[in-house]
Amino acid sequence: MAPVNATSFRELKQKNEKIAVLTAYDYPTAMLMDEAGVDAVLVGDSVGMAVMGMENTLGVTMDMMMHHVRMVRRGLKRAMLIADMPYLSYQISAEEAVRNAGRLISEGGAQGVKIEGPVVHFGDVIRCLIKAGIPVMGHIGLTPQSLHQLGGYKVQGRGEERARRLRMEALELQSVGCFAIVLECIPAEVAKEITVSLAVPTIGIGAGPDCSGQVLVSNDLLGWGQTKFTKTYVDIRGAMGKAFSAYVKDVKGGAFPGAEHCFK
Ligand code: KIV
Repeated sequence: MAPVNATSFRELKQKNEKIAVLTAYDYPTAMLMDEAGVDAVLVGDSVGMAVMGMENTLGVTMDMMMHHVRMVRRGLKRAMLIADMPYLSYQISAEEAVRNAGRLISEGGAQGVKIEGPVVHFGDVIRCLIKAGIPVMGHIGLTPQSLHQLGGYKVQGRGEERARRLRMEALELQSVGCFAIVLECIPAEVAKEITVSLAVPTIGIGAGPDCSGQVLVSNDLLGWGQTKFTKTYVDIRGAMGKAFSAYVKDVKGGAFPGAEHCFK
């Protein structure tokens, strides 16, 4: 299968083929996702909560992102690697945004970046990134970096006025050149309207079945998270807990290591 890039995202939408995106934060997970046929892997700033035990994504830094982007890069052959721009890496100035996104691309090997928020706030930043040759994925609806402004992790775009604003934000992100737009935690009907109004694909998370593709935080899918809109495909938490308990029992009881684990 041909490698996926920002151009193929639009082609997948044109072909009516759903786009499967997952988050990953390390090499072995990224490798398994690539082998499974995932189209794009997002190193999300969700790494702060999913892997580092942070309360929200606001403490994630560029250095943390670089560390995880490099690991994921080594695991991918076909899937497109998209890196989240963490909090304060693009909000201060377009110049800082280009410098930071440029690091994710040139040092980390990402093929695109994602930034949260509408054109009214980040239009200049997005234009400068695109001018620097960096594909940009937009992200509207629930934008976790604006957690305090939104008053928590709440469904966005309910009611005609808010839905209208979201539809407009999506069109504006497309017109400044975003190659795809993440729609997070919005009513399924609004996501459907946005998706049909755009040429670029929408990637939904908690946004219903009619988006051009879906993204999930991989820890949630594996049974480690608690997000409502997630489907849990395997109980990794349970399996790992059992394995750790069995190991402790074996060590305490002398069953591990056995003769087969010893050198002669
Ligand atoms: O940080 C992240 O993982 C994300 C996805 C949930 C879209 O932004």
